[in-house]
Amino acid sequence: MALWGGRFGEGMSDVTKWFTDDTSDRRLLVVDIQGSIAHVEMLGQAGIISGEEMEALVDGLRRILEEADRFEFQDTDEDVHTAVERRLGELVGELAGKLHTGRSRNDQIALDLRLYLRQATDELISQIRQLVEVLIESAAAHRDVVVPTYTHLQQAQVTTLGHHLLAYAWMLTRDAERLVANREQIDRSPLGAGASAGSTLPLDRVDVAERLAMDGLVVNSLDAVGSRDFAAAHVFNCAQGMAHLSRLAEEVILWASREFRWVTLSDQVSTGSSALPQKRNPDIAELVRGRAASVIGDTAAVLSLQKGLPLAYNRDLQEDKRLVFHADDTLAASLEAMAEMVGQLEFHVPEPGAETTALDLAEALVSRGVPFRDAHEVVGRLVLHLEAADRDFGSATSDDLTAVDTRFEGSDVDLLDPSQSAARRATVGAGSPTSVDDQIESLRQIWEGKPLN
Ligand code: ARG
Repeated sequence: MALWGGRFGEGMSDVTKWFTDDTSDRRLLVVDIQGSIAHVEMLGQAGIISGEEMEALVDGLRRILEEADRFEFQDTDEDVHTAVERRLGELVGELAGKLHTGRSRNDQIALDLRLYLRQATDELISQIRQLVEVLIESAAAHRDVVVPTYTHLQQAQVTTLGHHLLAYAWMLTRDAERLVANREQIDRSPLGAGASAGSTLPLDRVDVAERLAMDGLVVNSLDAVGSRDFAAAHVFNCAQGMAHLSRLAEEVILWASREFRWVTLSDQVSTGSSALPQKRNPDIAELVRGRAASVIGDTAAVLSLQKGLPLAYNRDLQEDKRLVFHADDTLAASLEAMAEMVGQLEFHVPEPGAETTALDLAEALVSRGVPFRDAHEVVGRLVLHLEAADRDFGSATSDDLTAVDTRFEGSDVDLLDPSQSAARRATVGAGSPTSVDDQIESLRQIWEGKPLN
């Protein structure tokens, strides 16, 4: 069934039909019906249809809602809106023709996408919360485990493994906060904008928004039907989330390598090789990293989709849905898989090289009044002195230190033990075991407070 046709002598050709039909919107079925119920109730309230008509239409729509999980789409349904109106006709007869009063598919689809994304946002936030919880638990369990930090993939200073894991908990928490912020933009009703510039009927836009528990209107009708910035922001938010997960995935892949030997993946989250009997592969992590690429692509596509469109609605906008769904589904699936994998990482991190304490040694001099630039130079000379004798940094003795510079004290040699270095770190958020405790406390407060909770 088409929702139009009066002005046409002939029907669409088969090619035109299959090319323009949309099946990607079928997952909007439930929100489409919810939007229609609110719309019909508003029509009744405003006296545009009678109370009896309203009741019969709402009743029919509720029945469709009940059968939503077994709803049968037909080949002749142009899109989800057409399918619902066709089914409503089967249930309530000609009265179904009043459903579309004061409405266009242009404001209807904008509404559906907003209702869908409002819910999808809440689901993503709760999935992010679960992964953050897994990271926090692992961080607490590894609050004292000393690991090297890396800059340029060279060992830099030391910190604790708990601190390293919490870096991802913070990133993901911001991802959730970004979703919350966009939820405010999503949660506005475009309904009543009609095809482009509203209606001569006394539609009550505020009433319908309130019925859908939306937080206000997209006021300008052209903006309401023609804008997809809220959808683009959602896709970006998914892409940023994927980029964070991909980064963690990349580290897991490195950590699981023979070269790093930081973790063993449990059997449950590993895959084997069909050719190499010894292999234990981190495929979840690799797929997350790989799928991040396509969600980043969705972001470029959803922006490109908007950039050349004259106001207001253009059919191009139909293409937003597959991008939004793909981005949203990919992040949701990746969050679930990563929570499973990260929860099962068995860490056994090798001790960092003693050179990760070089800055500690320089700062000991700084604390005695030596300008940092001099202290840097002195420790650099110590490195050179040891390297000339083919010795590593950890082999330095008090005599080596005082030979290089008399401002060293004999006991400074104790600073060369990387296992003690993280606990001495005084800066807020620097990863000492107590900083890990503090960060866990802060993260828990953020997640328990508004607006994340
Ligand atoms: N399937 C369309 C979309 O997703 C619905 C709106 C169609 N409007 C129209 N005038 N053809 O954007």
